[in-house]
Amino acid sequence: MSRQSGRRQIKISVAMKISPSKHIEGAISLPGDKSISHRAIMLASIAEGDSRISNFASSVDCAATIECFRRLGISIERNGNDVSVVAKGKHGLTAPTQPLECGNSGTTMRLLAGILAGQRFTSTMTGDPSLRSRPMRRIIDPLQAMGANIESVDGNAPLAISGSPLRAISYELPVASAQVKSCVLLAGLYADGTTKVVEPIPTRDHTERMLRGFGVDVSVNELAGGSREISVRGGVELRATNIDVPGDISSAAFFLVAAACLPGSQLLIKNVGVNPTRAAILEVLQNLGANIRTSNRRDAGGEPVADIVALGGLSKPEDATDTMRGSIVANLIDEIPILAVLGTQLDDGLEIRDAAELRVKESDRIASVVQNLKAMGADVEEFDDGLRVHRSRLRGATIDSFGDHRIAMTFGVAALLADGESEIVDAECASVSFPEFYQTLSEVAR
Ligand code: S3P
Repeated sequence: MSRQSGRRQIKISVAMKISPSKHIEGAISLPGDKSISHRAIMLASIAEGDSRISNFASSVDCAATIECFRRLGISIERNGNDVSVVAKGKHGLTAPTQPLECGNSGTTMRLLAGILAGQRFTSTMTGDPSLRSRPMRRIIDPLQAMGANIESVDGNAPLAISGSPLRAISYELPVASAQVKSCVLLAGLYADGTTKVVEPIPTRDHTERMLRGFGVDVSVNELAGGSREISVRGGVELRATNIDVPGDISSAAFFLVAAACLPGSQLLIKNVGVNPTRAAILEVLQNLGANIRTSNRRDAGGEPVADIVALGGLSKPEDATDTMRGSIVANLIDEIPILAVLGTQLDDGLEIRDAAELRVKESDRIASVVQNLKAMGADVEEFDDGLRVHRSRLRGATIDSFGDHRIAMTFGVAALLADGESEIVDAECASVSFPEFYQTLSEVAR
């Protein structure tokens, strides 16, 4: 049975009907960035002292990270989007009496593994069927090379980790992954010596930036050919701090594409994180002819933040490429599904390659996008490592989210562009990253 159909069997399905829209209009703020929120809980939980986090993500994934650290004995109080964490340093965690439930969240499991590898107790992490089918060998291998003791089910979760003394390693990432990089760096905080991670393609650097905010010295060397070497020393302590989480640019992407595809749209998105390792989506949209401007650029706790204005209409320059491949794809891997929808509105369509990682996300996102775009009448070709979308008129259809939040939201936007109503099956999975998505969409859709 395929990975996708296996998961669908156990999901409770709630369908959402979405009608076409003429344009979108308004000013919105988005929930806190998911990647930054996970890291804020994790670093605050192994720091010395009390940390406060504001604009914490409303995502279900980030709530799973909070629950895991509560089970590890950390006192975490949450009042809406404000979170306070009281912690006692890197060895202030205590052995959990139950498995650590990571839900649908790969970031929770992969980053937490790095912290658990350095503890003096045994713990088990598990997750939902989707997470249990995602590759964990990519973190098991480097952690075992550091001396960690990890049992898995053929490289999948559940993962049982018995803490042991760790030694520093120098690790070259075989796949561009911020989760794997972060896992090794976090384990490096517990290792004897200096741990180095080399990434061939720079991935999101929130861990590095936030570690500095917690007083940890992180050195980054730019190497030949665009790769980077990141080093942390073991034995250092983290000092508690306060973090204001910027709005999530990956959530913003859905609204930016909706605005670009619907002429007459006028949208202001306030307080969005525009870290250069995440903001490739802005550049790509501009190159594809979207009218997007940033203003009020500022810094919030080591992360660049801006307001974004998007006006409707696409005027793609003649010389703009219609193929995306290479390192840029790794930098907007979460935004590829919504870019595929944009591709249906471009004269020359859009081809996306070097994106095989999409096949091991919350669903096989290449297959999920191709199936749903075809259901909407689009002309799409599927490749092992990507897809080509031709300019197509979309019609309303029944959409399968495959239990994947980004697929549900991608087709929530596609539904605005279609002729006739669409129905998204299992739509509520959007809450994994953005529980307010449909509400926000209905507020701006005209
Ligand atoms: C994330 C890294 C990316 C991304 C995921 C969040 C992170 O995964 O797709 O949504 O917070 O580090 P990979 O590291 O597997 O590319």
